[in-house]
Amino acid sequence: MTDLQSFICDLPKAELHLHIEGTLEPELMVQLAERNGVTLKYATVASLREAYKFENLQDFLDLYYAGCSVLLFEQDFYDLTWAYLLKAKANNIVHAEIMFDPQAHTSRGVPFSAVIGGIYRALADGYEKLGISFRLILSFLRHLTPEDGFKTLAEAEPFRGWITAVGLDSSERDFPPDLFADLFEKALEMGFLTVAHAGEEGPPEYIWGALDLLKASRIDHGNSALEDPDLVDVLGIYEIPLTSCPLSNLKLKVIQKMTDHPLKEMLERGIKVTVNSDDPAYFGGYLNDNYIAVADALHLSKEDIVRLVKHSFEASFVTDGEKRNFLARVDEVERS
Ligand code: ADE
Ligand code: ZN
Repeated sequence: MTDLQSFICDLPKAELHLHIEGTLEPELMVQLAERNGVTLKYATVASLREAYKFENLQDFLDLYYAGCSVLLFEQDFYDLTWAYLLKAKANNIVHAEIMFDPQAHTSRGVPFSAVIGGIYRALADGYEKLGISFRLILSFLRHLTPEDGFKTLAEAEPFRGWITAVGLDSSERDFPPDLFADLFEKALEMGFLTVAHAGEEGPPEYIWGALDLLKASRIDHGNSALEDPDLVDVLGIYEIPLTSCPLSNLKLKVIQKMTDHPLKEMLERGIKVTVNSDDPAYFGGYLNDNYIAVADALHLSKEDIVRLVKHSFEASFVTDGEKRNFLARVDEVERS
């Protein structure tokens, strides 16, 4: 390992763009399939890994939703989340803002309470036993109707205190943010913050839509932002963070090679960009791997890494006091 790589590993970090269902490793998928009597198209760990070659986002999502079919009971969601938390600990993640896709489960008859109950119980244990603080983000699937989203929002109401924000994910092409303006307005009225995937495969107009119509506090991905200088200005002036996911972008062919990744240019143009792992079980790496891949390809300096890591805390949904504590911990490791 180079000095910079061990520096990356040693720094405390926040992860802000992570789909908990995307942390389902093939080993656990096969184990849960057996435990729950579910038949998978790819039934072995080796054949699953072999299948993880994607041409685009949809190609990946088809496998991701198929993988979700093994998650049936509260304990399954607990086991999934706990496995991620152990990886997070090993990556020196001290704060995680985790997305979950309830509709991927309620559509199969799994109760909303089993999904959020298992995830939340593991996160609470993770805070107590591993010292990892957390926030939870309920993500709506944009390939489903806004009406389905309203139904999900109603199911979330009893768990209002456990959820910080709502998000928007799944197939971006042909599902612009405008479709979900009313749903997000309702979520905002209920007191949720909002985030949205935008500009992963979609144009800059979808990022504008996420800001103007969905009032997104952060943009997930935002790769296409650099195509629009006015948008770059707005992101910089209003300090709207982008949660970038380098290995995801490479695996889903949003970029053709890591040296094409826009992260360094985003930094240089004054955008509060962060590094995240998205769906690490499918994309070949957790958070440190993402930092290392992008640092190597774009020749990032130690100062760039510190900026990125500080952005991860500044862009998080914790209080200003908590942000100050986290940033002080970063400074401490930087000086040591
Ligand atoms: N759901 C899980 N991962 C996703 C991604 N990268 N983009 C959109 N939806 C997702
Ligand atoms: Zn994502």
